[in-house]
Amino acid sequence: MNLVDRKKNTFALTTPLYYVNDLPHIGSAYTTIAADVVARFQRLQGNSVLLITGTDEHGQKIQRSAQSQGESPQEFCDRMSAGFASLWSLLDIKYDRFIRTTDGRHHAIVKEFFQRVWDQGDIYLGQQKGWYCVSCEEFKEERELLEGHYCPLHPNKQAEWRDEENYFFRLSKYQSQLEALYQSQPDFIQPASRRNEVLKFVEQGLQDFSISRVNLDWGFPVPGDSKHTLYVWFDALLGYVTALLEEDAEPTLDNALAQWWPINLHLIGKDILRFHAVYWPAMLMSAELPLPGGVFGHGFLTKDGQKMGKSLGNTLDPFALRERYDADAIRYYFLKEIEFGKDGDFNEIRFINVLNADLANDLGNLLNRTSNMVKKYCGGKIPQVVSQDISIENPLKFIGLELTEKVKIAYENLAFNQACEAILSLVRAGNKFIDEQAPWSLYKQGQQETVEKVLYTVLESVRLAAYLLSPIIPNISSDIYQQLGFDINFNESSSSSIKAPLSIHGKWGLLSHEQTLGKARPIFKRIDPPQSS
Ligand code: MSP
Repeated sequence: MNLVDRKKNTFALTTPLYYVNDLPHIGSAYTTIAADVVARFQRLQGNSVLLITGTDEHGQKIQRSAQSQGESPQEFCDRMSAGFASLWSLLDIKYDRFIRTTDGRHHAIVKEFFQRVWDQGDIYLGQQKGWYCVSCEEFKEERELLEGHYCPLHPNKQAEWRDEENYFFRLSKYQSQLEALYQSQPDFIQPASRRNEVLKFVEQGLQDFSISRVNLDWGFPVPGDSKHTLYVWFDALLGYVTALLEEDAEPTLDNALAQWWPINLHLIGKDILRFHAVYWPAMLMSAELPLPGGVFGHGFLTKDGQKMGKSLGNTLDPFALRERYDADAIRYYFLKEIEFGKDGDFNEIRFINVLNADLANDLGNLLNRTSNMVKKYCGGKIPQVVSQDISIENPLKFIGLELTEKVKIAYENLAFNQACEAILSLVRAGNKFIDEQAPWSLYKQGQQETVEKVLYTVLESVRLAAYLLSPIIPNISSDIYQQLGFDINFNESSSSSIKAPLSIHGKWGLLSHEQTLGKARPIFKRIDPPQSS
């Protein structure tokens, strides 16, 4: 799945705009980390990237949360939204735009878009009867609810009965156009299991959905009828458009859509697939705007095998997790351990074991033992060897020559776990190679040239592994790169993509004896298992 705009070499991607009814939870961190990794990899490929994130601040759920805290909705949103931005910085997420749906410019975009859809005759007044889950901000079919009208996604929350006049969007009109879209662009919804879910839903026949609420103040008034407030999802999806406005541009659709539209990829969780894969393209079709390149719906995180939720009291607080562990560790675990697209689990013992095994033992030790040997046997200098001196049959060179292409495909398919596995196979082969070659014996036997070739090969493998892992563990990769004598910091995303493009740094054999090794230090400190209380 390569969604880059080939003509402009641009790539715009979004995370969901997170509800601010509470501080961010680990699910929001998960999507945002993944989006950041995709963005970083695209930058290394030399593409211009725009990573959009932000907060969704209107609607009943937020109004009620603010009330329960005794704050005005705006004050409450300001405080919560800042919490998201601060978590993103703690997790080293480099976003380009942070859109808040209470931004004044967003109102102008929503009004203009509403007008376009209105002019198509796609909005009408009707009567909405049904069960509404405020936590989902969504009407539910009776059959979707649990006994007593509790919501399956929020089992401690009862859906509320509504019977009110609402404005409706004529979704049914777009049934065949949507079906044609899914047919002609099979990649539009990823992964395949999610696509099938959507196809089944659409097959049942699409019904118009209500896009306004009465008895709700916290939101934009419906243009021309201020008794109604726009439904939070109608306004939220348009946040992706408002986010595209340059800082000083007048808030018009033309300005917003000028450079980066259409968005290449929307990354979301599976619970909000219908909004992104059905409602959103239909709204855009109505406004006669080009459609996004694709939507990827990832799975849900569980904790110790159980669904995470406030009612179960087992939520995983990302701030608390970050206090205990480095950003790289958190980023690595979620992307390496969970197949993106499937549900996955967080278990702290597993977390510690994976990090110790992969980052401390396999990667950290490989660099450490090789640097020590370079110091002892090569006077602390990178051996004067070039790729051509190493036989094609050398197992590390053999893996290294193919690795970048393999990893590139994995990143492009959002198969982060496969990218990590492929990279780690080089690292593990590096440890095995040292054990087998035993440079300490070769040195004693006076085989200096072979020692140098072995050590060069291993150092170069560590470099390539660090480079290809840099979208996921930018701090560790920078540390390794600096120890190998490069002046590159992968957290300065714009400069690293220029200084270390994939076309050069993705090639096996880049390391040169002209570089001076930096000071050796451990790149990842082993984590001790928590003391059982
Ligand atoms: N505000 C809407 C999105 C509007 S986008 C225009 C919203 N916000 S949310 O904060 O409730 O959810 C944001 C994301 O978090 C969703 O993609 C959702 O799938 C994800 N997750 C919520 N709980 C999750 C887990 N336990 N695990 C993984 N992701 C989860 O929906």
